[in-house]
Amino acid sequence: MDRFVIEGPTRLEGELEVGGAKNAVLPLMAAALLARGDSIIQNVPDLHDVRFFMTILEGLGATCSLVGGELRLGTAEAEGREASYDLVRKMRASIYVLGPLLAFQGEAFVSLPGGCAWGPRPVNLHLEGMAALGAEIALERGYIHARVPRGGLRGGRFRFEPVSVGGTCNVLMAAVLARGETVLENCAIEPEVTALAIGLRDAGAVIEGIGTPTLRIQGPVTLRPLQQTVIADRIEAGTFMAGVALAGGRVRLTGVDTVHLDPITAVLREMGCAITEEPGAITIAADGRPVATEIITRPYPGFPTDMQAQLMAVCAVADGTSFISEGIYADRFTHVAELQRLGADIRVDGARATIFGVPKLQGAPVMASDLRASAALVLAGVAAEGTTIVNRVYHIDRGYECIEERLASLGARIRRESV
Ligand code: UD1
Repeated sequence: MDRFVIEGPTRLEGELEVGGAKNAVLPLMAAALLARGDSIIQNVPDLHDVRFFMTILEGLGATCSLVGGELRLGTAEAEGREASYDLVRKMRASIYVLGPLLAFQGEAFVSLPGGCAWGPRPVNLHLEGMAALGAEIALERGYIHARVPRGGLRGGRFRFEPVSVGGTCNVLMAAVLARGETVLENCAIEPEVTALAIGLRDAGAVIEGIGTPTLRIQGPVTLRPLQQTVIADRIEAGTFMAGVALAGGRVRLTGVDTVHLDPITAVLREMGCAITEEPGAITIAADGRPVATEIITRPYPGFPTDMQAQLMAVCAVADGTSFISEGIYADRFTHVAELQRLGADIRVDGARATIFGVPKLQGAPVMASDLRASAALVLAGVAAEGTTIVNRVYHIDRGYECIEERLASLGARIRRESV
């Protein structure tokens, strides 16, 4: 098992290219199951989650290759209908195959994902949305068994309550092959959802309202294989920005969409960072302690839950008391106890954390518990005095490509050790 050894504090200085978005590529990979032939997706990051999703697609009979950022998915013989418990429990995003398998194969057996480190993560909206298209859904021994009715899926009307990224993607993928009009209301408008809708539309789907909360889909269509370039990872960009806010320095990030970063940029500006935007690039500079702030995570265009842990690390060294409320996953605070090991002063009450800023963090051994929590610990380690050891970095490899090499290129003293 690998770990990172970080010697701090160091400032971060230089330039980095941001990779393609994990949360955009996974639904696109699932969408390849909606057509026969070879889908080609560009700007694909080489992440453990992407490799794992390739394994799932291979299990369904697809051929997959990822070389130099180009992902080829051949579905000519993808006849499988099952995603097993063993796969789904390792990666919740496996649930994305449900909609495509139901709509294209007519039947799907997909394990129920179960909970995760930050509490229950239900999929009832995925199932209710597909039921609104006429799907017959049964829960059998831990598996979702979904079947199209006689005559196939038909258009329907469904409202997501609350807004769900996964639910919107899954039901949208099923709806493009349903007969007639489907109206999906209160859809997630995260850039990754919009990217999926664009990918489907470019492949022949008829979708109105892309980028808005109401999607109108006319079906059925015979989709062509996908040809898409993955959008930049706003969370990866935001993570490096948080690193500068925490450790100080100046970094220019290229290959970004600055509009997607607006919710993150707004908070970091309030915290005293100097941020300048150019088309496709953003530069952040920070010196001295950040200013305390108040953050509530919300669906896009609100502040992303996937940046909550990293911003908490910034708040930990802010001048003053900060408040962070988690509006998506009330229990998503597994990083708090580890940040406390680095000297942070944080109190959690329900879904709200109060962070009393301290002048400096101190290095210590810590344990990564999930992807974004791990990123927060790595950033904290870069800024902390002394040696920080982040154990269980496989969490971070799921969603950041070679983060240690990229932070090292900005001046961080960080190395990977196998233990
Ligand atoms: C969520 C985040 C996404 C993030 C991902 C991984 C939002 C809106 N979603 O996406 O940005 O990248 O975690 O960290 O910020 N819910 C139900 N029933 C369902 C599905 C969801 O009640 O069937 C609830 C969830 O409990 C949660 C909210 O809806 O409170 C949003 O969940 P959802 O967007 O579906 O979760 P993910 O797709 O995992």
